[in-house]
Amino acid sequence: MTDDLLRRHRAVLPEWQALYFEHPIEIVSGAGCEVVDAAGRRYLDCFGGILTTMVGHAVPEVVEAVREQAGRIAHTSTLYLREPLVHLAERIAALSAIPDARVFFTTSGTEANDAALLMATAYRRSNQVLALRNSYHGRSFTTMAITGNRSWSASSLSGLAVSFVHGGYRLRSPFRSLADADYTAACVQDLRDVIDMTTSGDVACMIAEPIQGVGGFATPPDGFFGAMRKVLDEYGILFVSDEVQTGWGRTGDHFWGYQAHGIVPDLITFAKGVANGLPLGGVVARGEVMHAVHANSISTFGGNPVSVAAANATLDLVLSLDLQRNAREIGARMRARLDAAAARHPFVAEVRGRGLMLAIELVAPGGIEPAPSTANEVLEGARRRGVLVGKGGLYGNVIRIAPPLTITAAEADRAVDALEAVFEEIAAAG
Ligand SMILES: Cc1ncc(COP(=O)(O)O)c(C=O)c1O
Repeated sequence: MTDDLLRRHRAVLPEWQALYFEHPIEIVSGAGCEVVDAAGRRYLDCFGGILTTMVGHAVPEVVEAVREQAGRIAHTSTLYLREPLVHLAERIAALSAIPDARVFFTTSGTEANDAALLMATAYRRSNQVLALRNSYHGRSFTTMAITGNRSWSASSLSGLAVSFVHGGYRLRSPFRSLADADYTAACVQDLRDVIDMTTSGDVACMIAEPIQGVGGFATPPDGFFGAMRKVLDEYGILFVSDEVQTGWGRTGDHFWGYQAHGIVPDLITFAKGVANGLPLGGVVARGEVMHAVHANSISTFGGNPVSVAAANATLDLVLSLDLQRNAREIGARMRARLDAAAARHPFVAEVRGRGLMLAIELVAPGGIEPAPSTANEVLEGARRRGVLVGKGGLYGNVIRIAPPLTITAAEADRAVDALEAVFEEIAAAG
């Protein structure tokens, strides 16, 4: 059955839309942190639909909110008032800490970043943008242009002039041997050089993921973006924080990834987890920046009533259950054991990330040559043991662990047990 489905999939879908596993699985249902495939096999979901199933699968509160809204009215358009949409915007505006915050809803992270670039370039009257090496921001022409990862940037066509600066991917940085403060200082100097040597100075914005998602959870030292921000401020350059993966408490220590850096961004973009799997994204910016866009603009499906109902229910759970705390505690629990495992296995270069956003970079023992085949072995081995994890990184050699924020200690232990067993298996095979 699955073989036939795979054949049909391959015949009709683009080949660049890759499936996981040598024998791909069809997930047909889920509950909490578990999913079930078409053959009835259960898995612990430690990738949450790519960091999108934020409070778990088939959570009654979210299901009921969706059912209730869909049964009443599924779409009205942005032409009419809607209380739940205004309520959600009010909540996100208040949580953002951006003064005089306005929220524009989109259907995806790509569209949110596109919109943020429109606002920043209109406000600054400049098409020049700074982005980070090893970044990922989406799949439109503009967002591919600011994506610093060849595997995900199929075209450089865009109206933007983009310069890339050093960011948080320390393992392969020329500054990797430096201590935190010196590493940050070197990157700040690079930022200054890039502005002075590759732009005309009147750059619109710098966009950054506080922890790079697709890039393999590359994490800069705390305060890094605060130090970068001082240089940006000298030039009046706006700072856009792409919180598509890092928002809503996933990093444990903070509600937004930017909060590790002692600054408030000019713009925030969000998507993925906000509606627990229903399509919703958006931009938060202060009024004067948002309103620099002078022509009309709508997103037909942006802020769709069903997605908004799911988002309000999801946010209720994130806040009432204090899932940020769970991300911090369970993340630390998993991290401690993964660090210990990494010390035993020379094919693990490092464990990094924060909260429930943990990555393991796999290399050829003795150096840092990327080992994507080892990452595949981990992915497949974890799956055989009933645990789904993700992959990422510039070379596809990074395992990503990002379960729903509701994961329990027992489930987290199960996931790490499986990963430890896979590591032992790889070590034994030599
Ligand atoms: C940091 C970041 N920004 C933007 C996007 C694009 O979001 P979407 O796939 O919803 O368009 C992603 C998707 O993985 C992402 O990780």
